[in-house]
Amino acid sequence: MFAAVAPRYDFLNHLLSLGRDIAWRRAAAKALREALAQPGSLAVDVCCGTGDLAMALARYSAGKVIGTDFCRPMLLRAREKGRRLSRPPFFLEADTLALPFRDDSLDVVSVAFGFRNLADYNAGLREVYRVLKSGGTVAILEFSRVRWPVFGPLFRFYFHQILPRLGTLISGVRGPYQYLPDSVSQFPDQESLAVAITAAGFANVRYRNLTGGVAALHLGEKE
Ligand SMILES: C[S@@+](CC[C@H](N)C(=O)[O-])C[C@H]1O[C@@H](n2cnc3c(N)ncnc32)[C@H](O)[C@@H]1O
Repeated sequence: MFAAVAPRYDFLNHLLSLGRDIAWRRAAAKALREALAQPGSLAVDVCCGTGDLAMALARYSAGKVIGTDFCRPMLLRAREKGRRLSRPPFFLEADTLALPFRDDSLDVVSVAFGFRNLADYNAGLREVYRVLKSGGTVAILEFSRVRWPVFGPLFRFYFHQILPRLGTLISGVRGPYQYLPDSVSQFPDQESLAVAITAAGFANVRYRNLTGGVAALHLGEKE
């Protein structure tokens, strides 16, 4: 599915979110800047797609940033975009449910709009927990539930009725832009995701709504 939309993925992200996706990823990177600024820090952005969050992390990193994804056409675009940076992330083909990293080896694991796509969220959380060092931070940026009263119904109309049609028209691919609202409806809301992250063993789990809850940024630490 992602291989089919890779050529138009970034353009559609920015268009369909009216550019908010850039600010959301920037907020995620900023929330991680202390951990990234430690000399020699190792951060992995899983389900990195075309690499935008990995590249945002690289700006704050005093160590290494790696982006992983199992969709090669998305990774190739990430690598191409990274060429513009002086210190680009390293991009690696890998399944988030079986990461090629040792136990307790990473300072930061992030994921933007990819966690929802995992076949098993709890297995994904266990895998992230396994690879993080104790004291390491997980950041999950994902679509969530809008909490603003008037904006909520308007957004839901846009998200369920307009976005799938626009996305299909511009990408020329049937499926992925219908899958987007459908998968968000089935994904845990802010509170339920925080409960799942805590149940996976993370401490100090908190979240912040972005654009009224269109997206939410969850953070947690491995004790
Ligand atoms: C919606 S895109 C998000 C891409 C990027 N993180 C962003 O912020 O735009 C979801 C990505 O997750 C990847 N993905 C889904 N399941 C995965 C898995 N089990 N292992 C690795 N990548 C996965 C897809 O290939 C796709 O590139």
